[in-house]
Amino acid sequence: MRKKIVAANWKMNLTKKEALYIYDKLEEIQLEENQEVIVFSPYVFLDALKQRQHHIKVGAQNFHPAAQGAYTGKVSINHLLDLEIECVLVGHSERRILFNESDEVIKLKIDVAVNNKLETIFCCGEPLEIREQGKHSSYVLQQMESNLFHLTPEQMKSIIIAYEPVWAIGTGKTATAQQAEEMHRFIRMSIEHRYGKATAENISILYGGSCNPGNAAELFACENIDGGLIGGASLNAEDFTKIIQAQ
Ligand code: 13P
Repeated sequence: MRKKIVAANWKMNLTKKEALYIYDKLEEIQLEENQEVIVFSPYVFLDALKQRQHHIKVGAQNFHPAAQGAYTGKVSINHLLDLEIECVLVGHSERRILFNESDEVIKLKIDVAVNNKLETIFCCGEPLEIREQGKHSSYVLQQMESNLFHLTPEQMKSIIIAYEPVWAIGTGKTATAQQAEEMHRFIRMSIEHRYGKATAENISILYGGSCNPGNAAELFACENIDGGLIGGASLNAEDFTKIIQAQ
């Protein structure tokens, strides 16, 4: 049975006090056996969050693919492992667009994360002009083929996919449940085509992009939507709790 996951991507927001407040609030939520909540925090709060020893997982939004070295200002996977961080985000559209992360870099990061047995959320999703041209499926397939499909079936067990249409991120414009389900089904079918039914059935596929307490239940009720990757609405403990409880 695949896991139901709701993850917070706090991006470059919150103070330490606010981060700890939200994290402590989440600890009060009763989770079902196959349900998981992850908080992707700015680096500077990771240690403090881990010190709390809550059942809510803590993840990092990024890392540098090199193990160590003269990379001023960067954080390596070894730093994350040292803090016992369990999950990482790779391929977020903000990293691709704002920081020019190429397919090669994303592929390399996927390898580093998976080889270190971290739970790895691979983000994919099309920009608005691609959606308007009706080429969103082939665009996302291309992202998976160039970033992900070199992994072995065993390595794929560490992967969670987040479908995040770029036009829906931070815009208040959510994909409809039908649009999202259609893409999630396509992603699962593509995985089945490459890896077989068992791998495809076991992989969790999350939706991200203006997901909020008002639309989460409808999205999560779809057959191929196994949860969400939440930006803006995860900065408020009450809203994020409602989203978790919508599962
Ligand atoms: P919003 O929920 O703010 O649209 O952000 C989604 C996102 O980018 C999560 O990674």
